[in-house]
Amino acid sequence: FAEGPLAGQRVVISAGPTREAIDPVRYLSNNSSGKMGFALARSAARLGAEVCLIAGPVSLPTPAGVERIDVLSALDMHSAASTALTRCDIFIGTAAVADFRLSSVAEQKIKKDSSGPAPSLALVENPDIIAMVAQHPLRPRRVIAFAAETEHLEQHAGKKLATKQVDAVVANDVSRTDIGFGAEHNEILWVGAHNTVAFGPANKSAVADFILQQIINLDLHHEPS
Ligand code: PMT
Repeated sequence: FAEGPLAGQRVVISAGPTREAIDPVRYLSNNSSGKMGFALARSAARLGAEVCLIAGPVSLPTPAGVERIDVLSALDMHSAASTALTRCDIFIGTAAVADFRLSSVAEQKIKKDSSGPAPSLALVENPDIIAMVAQHPLRPRRVIAFAAETEHLEQHAGKKLATKQVDAVVANDVSRTDIGFGAEHNEILWVGAHNTVAFGPANKSAVADFILQQIINLDLHHEPS
């Protein structure tokens, strides 16, 4: 039996980018490395949780004792998250999910035709995974979103807290190269319904420990879920 403050809790964490196919050899994606989500998975397992990590395409080893589900696209991640909801106490959305996908994926590689116009890509919006989780009849007790911002972190995070109906939003400034996407470190602003706390810069493992402590505190302070 696991011991620790998260013993008996099943924690589901999404991590990494998603990849939206254009044709059999091309895609749209972003620079998420998965490091923040994998650090959370490692810390949650260390704190005694049963951890399920839904990982986009990243090249990181699976943390010890963690169950890993690999996905590619936002729709794949949405479906893995829906399935995980049947048994989930805490959901943390660290993944940088693509907001848009191609309205249709070309079956063959798109050919260059220098004499004609450049092809244009028609996009459709992807479903919002964290909002689906937070508003689902099987809603986990705690749902935590991230917010990748380039300015006005607190205001944008506060807006996401309300629209997505999550318990807290972890905002980070992705305009900087020393933290956020791909970096070893992060600096965050935890925006909950009742408190806003800054942490860092620190390595992602320390940031993960801090975020999990904030989640544990939600229950210690008897905040209604
Ligand atoms: O992976 P790393 O290199 O370590 O970098 C970490 C990180 C910068 C990716 C991470 O700290 C971070 O900020 N993750 C959120 C990235 C993001 O997509 O933020 P957003 O503000 O666009 O989305 C807000 C929230 O909605 C996020 O919890 C996101 O997972 C979720 N979302 C967004 C779109 C969508 N279709 N479905 C979602 O669930």
